[in-house]
Parts: sequence; C-alpha cells; structure tokens
Amino acid sequence: MNEIHFYNRRTQLLSMMEDGVAIITSAPIQTRSNDTEFPYRQNSDFYYLCGFKEDNSILVLTKTAESIRTYLFVEAYNAEHALWNGARLGVEGSRERFSVDEVHDIASYKEMMQEILREHINLYIDLYNDSPRLSEAKNAAQTLHSMRGVKRHVRAIHDVTYLVRSLRLIKTPEEIDMIKKAISITTQAHHEAMRVCKSGMKEYQLQAAMNYVFLSNGASAEAYGSIVAGGNNANTLHYVDNRDDLRDGDLVLIDAACEWELYASDITRTFPINGKFSGAQCEVYNAVLDVQLKVIDSIKPGVKRDWLQRYSEELLCDALITLGVLHGERQALMDAKEHKKYAPHGIGHWMGLDVHDPCPYVDESGESLAFEAGMVMTIEPGLYFRADDESVPERYRGIGIRIEDNILVTENGYENLSAMIAKSVEEIEGMCNQL
Ligand code: GLY
Ligand code: MN
Ligand code: MN
Repeated sequence: MNEIHFYNRRTQLLSMMEDGVAIITSAPIQTRSNDTEFPYRQNSDFYYLCGFKEDNSILVLTKTAESIRTYLFVEAYNAEHALWNGARLGVEGSRERFSVDEVHDIASYKEMMQEILREHINLYIDLYNDSPRLSEAKNAAQTLHSMRGVKRHVRAIHDVTYLVRSLRLIKTPEEIDMIKKAISITTQAHHEAMRVCKSGMKEYQLQAAMNYVFLSNGASAEAYGSIVAGGNNANTLHYVDNRDDLRDGDLVLIDAACEWELYASDITRTFPINGKFSGAQCEVYNAVLDVQLKVIDSIKPGVKRDWLQRYSEELLCDALITLGVLHGERQALMDAKEHKKYAPHGIGHWMGLDVHDPCPYVDESGESLAFEAGMVMTIEPGLYFRADDESVPERYRGIGIRIEDNILVTENGYENLSAMIAKSVEEIEGMCNQL
C-alpha cells in the first residue's frame, strides 16, 4: 500500500485527538517453544497507521494548537541480527521509506519521551496493552509531573485504539483491493478442497491442500486457525484439531481463508465428502443457504447491525420450525431462546486487518451502528445438530452446516466479495465432481 494512505490515516487520527500525544506500539514477538518463535505478525492498529512491519518499533504522534509531529522509533541496523534473521531497515532506511517527520533509534525512546510529552495534557495509548514501552511513557509523564519548571502535565489518558478502530471501520478502495486479493486466493483453495476431497482422507489433508494454494499464491498465511470438520465435528464451533477421518456419507465444514498483506478473508463452505448431498443434508443445507441469501440481500446503508442480527435469528428460527426441529410460535420460541441451541453464534462480524476486526459495533450513544458504504462484514449463518441430540429428528443428527461470505456495503446496497465460490447444491456438487 502506498505511503500516502498511511499518511492520510495519521492525519485523520490527529484530527480526532485533542492536543496531546498518541503512542502506538508494534506487536511483541511471541515465543512458540523454548527459543523458537511464531511467525511475526504486526499489530494491526500500528500497521494501519504507518505500514511498518518490523517488531520493536513505536509510532508517536503529537498535536498542539500550532503544530503536529510524527515520530517513528525503530531498531537500528545490526550486523549480527542481519546474519541470523535478516537485515532491518534501520534508522536511515526508515527515514527514506516512511513519510513521518522524524525517525529515531528505539534506544533513544525512553529519553526522548520526556521531551515529547513535555507540556502535553492528553496521552493516547492502548489502555489494554501492557507493553513495557507504555509503562516507560507513563514513567516519563510522571517524572515531568514532579518537575517544577513544567507548566502542563498529562492529566488524562485515553484509549487510542477506539479512535483508530473507528477509522478502520470504513475501508478505502485500496483496502478493499487487498481483501479481494485474499478472497481470490481463498476461492481457489476452497475449490481445490472440493475437488480433491475423497472419503478416507484425513481432515488435515484438506487443510494441507488449501494451505498449498495459500502459500503458493503468495498469501502470508491462514488468516486464522483453519477449521476442517468432518461429520459431527462441525458441531464444535471452534474445531481446529483437524485430525479425524473424512467418512463416506458425511459433510465436511471448512472455515478457512488466507491473509494478504495483513488483510483477512473469512470463508466457510460445507460440502459432501463423497460429492453428493443426501436428502437430509440437502434439506438442512438449503435452509441455511436460504437464510444466508435473505440476510445478505437485506444489507444496504442505513440498516442497523442489531436489526440484521434479529432478522437472521427470526429466519433461522423459522427454518428450525420448517425442519421440524422446533415446534410452536416463532415469537414464543425466540423469547425462550430455543433457537440458540441450534444456532448459537452471531450472524457475522467486521472484517479487515483482523479477521474479527475490532471496530465499534455501537455509536457513541450506545446505539447499534447503521451500515455505511465501505464497511466489510461476514454473513455466516449456521445450524448445528449434534449426533447425540435426541431433540433433533434422527435424520438430521450429526449434521452441522455454516455458510460464510464476505460482504462490502456499497452506496446502493452491497457487493458479495466472495460470490464466486461455489455455494448452491448444484455448484458444489459440480465442483466436487470436477476432475
Ligand atoms: N473463522 C472465524 C469466524 O468465522 O468468525
Ligand atoms: Mn469463518
Ligand atoms: Mn467469521
């Protein structure tokens, strides 16, 4: 993404701040075991504001009535680090690459914070992050507080993530392109899984087939832990074990997608392992699909998210009545939350730099947000009938189905960004039986 996009975002954030200082830190390195680490993944808020992907770096923005200033603190180039882990951009390289006002060695951060925080009243940090770097900033503020010559001190600490994540809610065309790229690779991966799936395979073999598509197309990684759930495993919502057999006559639910330049996709398809839906599977599948299509079709600017949630629950409750799983009046069943037993999760979530983008769901007054063009969300209804659940007609037991697409709100309605992934019974059976 071009440097101008990061510059514009910092300008937007500064315009939302009172006079003060904002500090956003990079993600820490996470140990996997002993002295080996998980692949590094930058903090999404930090990346959103400056595009820098290295660890041990800090972005600082300052604002007074007269001026604004941006600082990036980075690790200096180090030959030993370059030998073992690769060269860092370093202070000079970062100065050339990024359009911040000042780049400094991270080693000078602690000392410089006393200068930077001087005479500022408001401090904006991630309140829920226990980074030692934020403690260092607070210590610097405390030192200034006790200095007689300093006239103004930090008196208020604000959550900077709320401001950044409010900006992240509306995606720019460049961000939408990133998401579309992730989805286009994910599309190939889901189609590959449908084509290669055979009874007798293991769940992890489908995962491996998809990961091959992700990595060989340059995607950074799975956007989240892949769920490849054969048969009754689909009724465990966060099933990530993926080690079971794929059995003839069962469905497999795959919730897997890749990340492109830190932008996520999040797609679920459920299809027959042997390539042909049974009658009972087809009934449940089409019930979920019908709900999903209706919910997607109701999306347009102005519609409120809590209305969409309610509408999806009504449709799922109706589907459960039609399937003969629930009996009685929809309203009474919903009041008693009977439908929740078989449809326990929400209809969807924001998606962007994080698969579950942590953007606000309500406005400042606590009202559910109304959709606006540029928002991206998942729509993912599901019905889950456990194999041992005797409240469910026998023919449906052991069936778990979720169908998930990624939807962009547009000026006039919506665009289903993942519309090209096989979804109807006919499309899926066609793809499963393609040679
Ligand atoms: N893959 C996680 C979710 O659908 O929310
Ligand atoms: Mn998902
Ligand atoms: Mn999702």
